[in-house]
Amino acid sequence: MLVLGIESSCDETAVSVCRMENGRREVLSNCIASQIAIHKLYGGVVPEIASRAHAEAISGLCRQAIQEAGVTMQDIELVGVTNAPGLVGALLVGVSFAKGLAFANHKPFVAVNHIAAHIAAAYINAPELKPPFFALVASGGHTSMIHVKSYTEFETVGRTRDDAAGEAFDKIARVMGMPYPGGAEMDRAASQGQAVISFPSAAIADDTLDFSFSGLKTAVMNYLHTREQRGEEVSVPNVAASLTSTICASVVKKLTMAWDRYHFHQLVLAGGVAANTHLRAALAQFCEQNDISFYVPPKHLCGDNGAMVAVQAYYEYEAGHRAAWNLNAVATGKK
Ligand code: KG4
Ligand code: ZN
Repeated sequence: MLVLGIESSCDETAVSVCRMENGRREVLSNCIASQIAIHKLYGGVVPEIASRAHAEAISGLCRQAIQEAGVTMQDIELVGVTNAPGLVGALLVGVSFAKGLAFANHKPFVAVNHIAAHIAAAYINAPELKPPFFALVASGGHTSMIHVKSYTEFETVGRTRDDAAGEAFDKIARVMGMPYPGGAEMDRAASQGQAVISFPSAAIADDTLDFSFSGLKTAVMNYLHTREQRGEEVSVPNVAASLTSTICASVVKKLTMAWDRYHFHQLVLAGGVAANTHLRAALAQFCEQNDISFYVPPKHLCGDNGAMVAVQAYYEYEAGHRAAWNLNAVATGKK
């Protein structure tokens, strides 16, 4: 089945065509129009500017994705679109465009949850991966531990109670003068530093599987301000390495608790922060020690993209789900 996936929940407009057949998941095209250069000027995503940039990019990008896949719109058998969670104005651009496309071309149409799509990115290069499994989704907006019961059934068993991991990376990176979005830059700086500074854990000290990144974020900010006031030098690589190692240790701590409870045999790491070299290594080690099969999408499929939406759309379609023509965008989405 040829599936066209559309993503516009935040600051990337993305359209992809994937071929989904008998466990085969083939990405025929994966086109992304990033708005990073625009939002960089403001140090963060400006919602209205994001919506307008999606509106400008989406038609051309869809045409490009179909062309690069070497197919025509007539060949497409399913249209999938992210409708939640995300910035409402941004989501509405993708939802309205997908609706028009499906309606005009008489194609079935399904709605995809953005978090489910991030998890689905892990299927692309791992034909052996099948639910049930455990997933840690860490992005700019979410940090959740999810029990993936089937391709379309999810139970969130732990989540951040405040900031997401990516948000903590981005905000601290900004204060340290790194370009937006700071996650990738922080990753590089951490590789050059040593984790010699002690910061508070993001793993909440209770028996839940919840996180809190705001205390950690404040502690790093305070560290930076204090050094600045005293006129002391700050080692950016050491702060990056210490922050990253604290985040990795916090995640491993809660995953260890989760493993004691659920004894899962497969773990998926997904979301934009899954591109982090150090987190990938920490979870690979945790999985090796506990005899768990570890899956993480290739780095280019960790951030927002259309292929992950197309793959999840296929499974939603297989489960019999169809979107109604009055489908709306939803800012907050359960998963
Ligand atoms: O999934 P995503 O593209 O968008 C959301 O759904 O939020 O995630 C974006 C987040 C940003 O916070 C970005 O800084 C972070 O992923 N990120 C990283 C890395 N690459 C992207 N964080 C840490 N290390 C990275 N290498
Ligand atoms: Zn995302």
